[in-house]
Amino acid sequence: MDLFTTPAPECARRRVDELTRLLDHYNFEYYMNDNSLVSDYEFDALMRELVELERTYPELSLPTSPARRVGGEINKTFRQVQHRFPMLSLGNTYSIEEIEEFEARTRKLLDGIPFSYTCELKYDGVAIGLTYRHGQLVQAVTRGNGTVGDDITANARTISTIPLRLRGDFPDDFEARGEVVYPFEAFEAMNLQRESEGEPPFANPRNAASGSLKLQDSSECAKRKLMFCMYFLMLLPDSQPLGAAYDTHSGRLEAARQMGFKVQPYIKECKTIEDIKFFIDFWDKERWNLPFGIDGVVIKVNQTALWDTLGTTAKSPRWAIAYKFKAERVSTPLLEISYQVGRTGIVTPVANMQPVWLGGTTVRRATLNNADFMAKLDIHQGDSLFVEKGGEIIPKIVGVDLDKRPAGAKPLHYTTVCPVCGTPLVRAEGEAGFYCPNQDGCMPQILGHLEHFVSRRAMDIDSLGSERLKLLYDAGLVKTVADLYTLKRSQLIGLGQKNTLPDIQSESSNAPVSAPTIQEKGADNILKGIEESKQVPFERVLYALGIRYVGEVGAKKLARHFGNIDAIINADSTELATVEDIGEVTAAAIADYFSQPVHRETVERLRAAGLKMQAEDTRVSTVLDGLTFVVSGVFEHYSRDQIKASIEQHGGKVSGSISGKTSYLLAGDKMGPEKLKKAEKLGVPIISESDYNKMIV
Ligand code: IVH
Repeated sequence: MDLFTTPAPECARRRVDELTRLLDHYNFEYYMNDNSLVSDYEFDALMRELVELERTYPELSLPTSPARRVGGEINKTFRQVQHRFPMLSLGNTYSIEEIEEFEARTRKLLDGIPFSYTCELKYDGVAIGLTYRHGQLVQAVTRGNGTVGDDITANARTISTIPLRLRGDFPDDFEARGEVVYPFEAFEAMNLQRESEGEPPFANPRNAASGSLKLQDSSECAKRKLMFCMYFLMLLPDSQPLGAAYDTHSGRLEAARQMGFKVQPYIKECKTIEDIKFFIDFWDKERWNLPFGIDGVVIKVNQTALWDTLGTTAKSPRWAIAYKFKAERVSTPLLEISYQVGRTGIVTPVANMQPVWLGGTTVRRATLNNADFMAKLDIHQGDSLFVEKGGEIIPKIVGVDLDKRPAGAKPLHYTTVCPVCGTPLVRAEGEAGFYCPNQDGCMPQILGHLEHFVSRRAMDIDSLGSERLKLLYDAGLVKTVADLYTLKRSQLIGLGQKNTLPDIQSESSNAPVSAPTIQEKGADNILKGIEESKQVPFERVLYALGIRYVGEVGAKKLARHFGNIDAIINADSTELATVEDIGEVTAAAIADYFSQPVHRETVERLRAAGLKMQAEDTRVSTVLDGLTFVVSGVFEHYSRDQIKASIEQHGGKVSGSISGKTSYLLAGDKMGPEKLKKAEKLGVPIISESDYNKMIV
């Protein structure tokens, strides 16, 4: 008999208790003591059982249940919460002399009172405060501006190293402060996955940790494998005496460890400046062997009773200071400069260097940004380059190691021709980068064009991703956007199929990942997406053409002003420049675009295919005629784009910045403080979402 498929409440209650106890125990041993008591499979099975039971009997589901670790709660916006005690930051410095000054000053102020320091790691992540009452986690809040932060409790519960329920003895009401970090291994795995799904990777673990805590779906946050490093136990000013262990910072951290917090063991009590300097030097070298990022060392007076004696300035306590590590730098020989052609034709120089170990990874390549940057570095043949890595994962080239320059070496210059198609490069006035002007004949640019054309905000053909477009291009079926509209089902089916002849390259593990073969259903989807795109309004068709400098807003203004494509084609750049938001450079780019016969031919083919080449009046009313709105913050019933669209549908205009011409600032939740200040200064009326709704009825 399976006792638990339809458990009686009492039996379910007992099983929930038992599963909670087991899972808490396994979790604690695994994350705190690196001790795996059960296999992942067993752990997951027990967790699933608990989740299932709690779903069937919601009254048994406590906020401290380990089932919360899998997440599931959705938060559209994060509630703003005032910190009970401000979350101060620390005075920080890159200079050892300033650490010596801090030490001497502290010693002088304490005037003979015996004391010591604790040195600990400065975790490179996101600061949060966790409130515990009666041993249970009740709230997690980000640092925010130090006074007010975001309530991220649901996401914090998914972090395995944050105890939901405390063990042993603990103060009845307190706050645990610490840093949420993204361990390197998990960070890299997540970024790889993002890239494989076509999403932009995060620049560094800190940004990724911050983004993860703000995920709306806590089950997504659960997948991120974040870690909490506790660094501060904040007691209430009137809390009961708790015993001698709480008289020192190190004693409080030890007490926190006993309660079940992850407290890193790398803490050292130091009595002298020499001890402190030793700790700093040690971790400056050793930091890349840690599984997570640190950006310095924090030095605190250990005896908590002395914190009041030393006091606090407006921003930070006088009893602590942070020493920040300088970025790590190495010099390595340059092997070759290669050039990458981007989707917009920009040609970026890349330094290929002798592989070198730096900041926890091997560095082989780094960008040289653009021609100006290269010229400033004045690279010569056979040079060695200085490469630096700070908090960022991406290495930066910061200079040439002149000591290693070979005698008589010749300077290296930025290329003059496109490495893909050989066209001489050009440079737009005032820009640092050169680009290949052969937009219609240079492979990366053609693909870039096609991708832009099908993108969501342009023609929105989501059945065509970059891999499929590449397939179509390689097969010679699509060379310009107009070719999409002559595709036939029979041409698509089977596309992407591997050669039947053995192909050594594609068998190798380095072969690029290719799009799966297009089957019947895939072909139908593609054709359906293409067909539906014929309903896309003219302003988006204009944007989709990918004319240099013509963004969504520009396209909209042009469509409204001229009404149809022919009027735009026939306008000269002076006339084009009279349109709001269209400057001289953009006007010249538009005129140049339509002066080329191939572009006029594309337009004709698209028109013949049935795309909209004429603006429609989509207004539903004119009640907002003549009014200009600036929109800021988060709204309850609209996304930002929806509310902007609504304004325009009622005849109003939307502008990005507040000026004397602004009629209203439409303010949602979490509006930018700068906008508010400016609106108040200029006397622009501020209205809410509900005020707005009343205006349009
Ligand atoms: S103590 C009042 N200890 O560094 C004492 N902070 O400006 C408050 N940080 O935003 C901070 N590691 O989030 C402390 N071991 C550590 C830390 C640490 C990282 C962060 C903290 C704060 C910033 C200091």
